[in-house]
Amino acid sequence: QKKMILDLDTGIDDALALAYAVGDPNVDLIGIISSYGNTLIETAAQNSLNLLHLLGANNVPVFIGESHSSTTDHFDVMPISQLIHGKNGIGEVVLETAPRHVETQSGVDFLIAAAHQYADDLIFIPTGPLTNLATAIKKDPAVATLIGNTTLMGGALTVPGNVTPFTEANIHQDPEDADYAFTRQKNLTMVGLDVTLRTLLTKKETAAWRALNTTAATKFAELMDFYIDAYANLGIDKKGAALHDPLAVAVGIDASYVTTLPLAMHVTYDQKSGDYGRTIGDKDKLLVPTTTQVAVLVDTDRFVSDFQTMMLSVLNN
Ligand code: BDR
Ligand code: CA
Repeated sequence: QKKMILDLDTGIDDALALAYAVGDPNVDLIGIISSYGNTLIETAAQNSLNLLHLLGANNVPVFIGESHSSTTDHFDVMPISQLIHGKNGIGEVVLETAPRHVETQSGVDFLIAAAHQYADDLIFIPTGPLTNLATAIKKDPAVATLIGNTTLMGGALTVPGNVTPFTEANIHQDPEDADYAFTRQKNLTMVGLDVTLRTLLTKKETAAWRALNTTAATKFAELMDFYIDAYANLGIDKKGAALHDPLAVAVGIDASYVTTLPLAMHVTYDQKSGDYGRTIGDKDKLLVPTTTQVAVLVDTDRFVSDFQTMMLSVLNN
């Protein structure tokens, strides 16, 4: 059985990614590293602890990662993130506080140790900024070759982005570290915004969660409906809200959900450049063998249907 580590800025769709990973019998979720983005890192960590408690998964340890990018000295949550995810990151839904705390080992050290221990059997899923991954590689360059499969949600091969016309939110938080990771990490798959925006969940699916009548199902339906309403109110999509982060988990387990192109990627981080934070397929390296795959298409119907089946199972206890 493969081991999985999630790196989450928890976040509503991060919460869905967490539930999907908890529910999938094909993987052993060995830990969650907290990141910043949708919320401050402390909030993200507490949300992960409380969500695991809600799902009866108090055996999964939660670690604290880097609290801001290495090129800044602090991080402020973007106003748009608060509109999409709520001020507490989970749509203002109040969860019972978990009966435990975060681990004392740092998230970066946990990732380094797991890379050495599990190597090819490790699936690493970052669904926030790439600061923790870049920091781990800087501390121990072997991480870049050891981790068997890194599948991230972030970037966009085709524009527009969701923060600037060129930049997706996770990459926008720390383009320099994103570039560092993209240009070093082997066996990397990018699941970008232009693909995840094709996977929408609607209130029809959350109504089916509610009908399960469990505490977990009710809480997840509440936070998901907040996210669906935010997508409609902000004019992002009237039909439903995107399953960005759970798609990365699904692809990490079963790559056949997407069609990919092998492309060496880099990220622009020159502040003065008009496309700051853009993920770019390097045309000068088109014919150079690369282990980076970039998703370009997704089997929407199969993924959304499998996601719903997984949620109905994980929320039904
Ligand atoms: C990504 O940014 C965050 O808001 C979401 O959780 C997702 O990881 C989408 O751009
Ligand atoms: Ca996220």
